[in-house]
Amino acid sequence: MAQTLTQVREWNAALKSTRPEMVALFVGGTSGIGEHTAINLAGAVKKPTIYIIGRNEAAGTQVVDAMKNANPDGTYGFKAVDMSNLRNVDEACEELKTRFKALDLLFLSAGAISISKNETAIGIDVNHMTRYYSRMRFVENLMPALEAATSPRVISILAGGKEIMIEEDNLDLSKKFSLSEANGYPASMTSLAFEVLASQHPSVSFLHVFPGLVSTPLMKKSMGSVLGTILGFLTMPMSISAKESGEWQTWLSTSPNFVPKNSGQGAYIVNHDGKDSTNQSLMAQLREKGFPEIVWKHTQDIFTRALK
Ligand SMILES: NC(=O)c1ccc[n+]([C@@H]2O[C@H](COP(=O)([O-])OP(=O)(O)OC[C@H]3O[C@@H](n4cnc5c(N)ncnc54)[C@H](OP(=O)(O)O)[C@@H]3O)[C@@H](O)[C@H]2O)c1
Repeated sequence: MAQTLTQVREWNAALKSTRPEMVALFVGGTSGIGEHTAINLAGAVKKPTIYIIGRNEAAGTQVVDAMKNANPDGTYGFKAVDMSNLRNVDEACEELKTRFKALDLLFLSAGAISISKNETAIGIDVNHMTRYYSRMRFVENLMPALEAATSPRVISILAGGKEIMIEEDNLDLSKKFSLSEANGYPASMTSLAFEVLASQHPSVSFLHVFPGLVSTPLMKKSMGSVLGTILGFLTMPMSISAKESGEWQTWLSTSPNFVPKNSGQGAYIVNHDGKDSTNQSLMAQLREKGFPEIVWKHTQDIFTRALK
């Protein structure tokens, strides 16, 4: 059910007593939605433990300082990881596993908008790698820590509800690549993978979120300074601030509305306000064609190919 900002603020204000401790990892926590959610959550929870990941060391240090300012009683850390290479993801997870035994929240928001194809060493577009495969690798690697938590949650900030019909021989975007495919494929693949993961891991809830238009450095980083500034300016009237986005995402990260499969649905496709944005007829067609299993098998195959 959709919430209002007032309800979300009331919920978040009560977290100090209702959720005194929380361990969270923000993959993409050095900027934008991840950054502001991490800082908001740090201030909301009494004793938070929050790690953030990104490439930019200076930005990472700044976000850690902002979390300390928001709540000096927390434990915070930054790790520099370039997620366009799956090996880096595996290395980072090995180290992260030594820092926490149980993980309450895995918040995935790394990546940019794909305008043109930019291939990694294994021939997959950098953003497709970052927004889908690497995020899924974090989920897979950190699953034991998630399953060790009391009410664990995985959130992927991408394009829940913006899925498109996909083709089995183009899942890695090697056959066709356009703006529509580059953004639609990871959306479809995330929603399908989360259905599989929710069944395999019934104590964990999975949210694929469309965050709305949020004023962040995303446009400039994705399209360059001139076009990014123009587009940022044009979309500003329809956008919410990154700070407000952090408030909505703190609520999505902690709300009891999204129960795991062992008590209900398990996988959710929602807008920033929690409204169900599932394209029911498209998802039914994708299921009928066997895509949840096809996508998950393909994901495992890419892991093997990238890590051999
Ligand atoms: N903002 C919006 O209006 C909007 C709307 C719909 C969907 N989304 C989606 O939401 C996600 C987050 O957007 P945002 O607005 O928060 O973007 P942002 O401000 O540009 O933040 C992106 C984050 O991803 C990290 N990142 C990018 N490439 C990486 C790599 N190779 N390795 C490790 N980290 C990497 C960045 O860290 P470093 O720079 O430190 O590497 C940064 O922390 C994106 O996937 C975007 O497509 C955003």
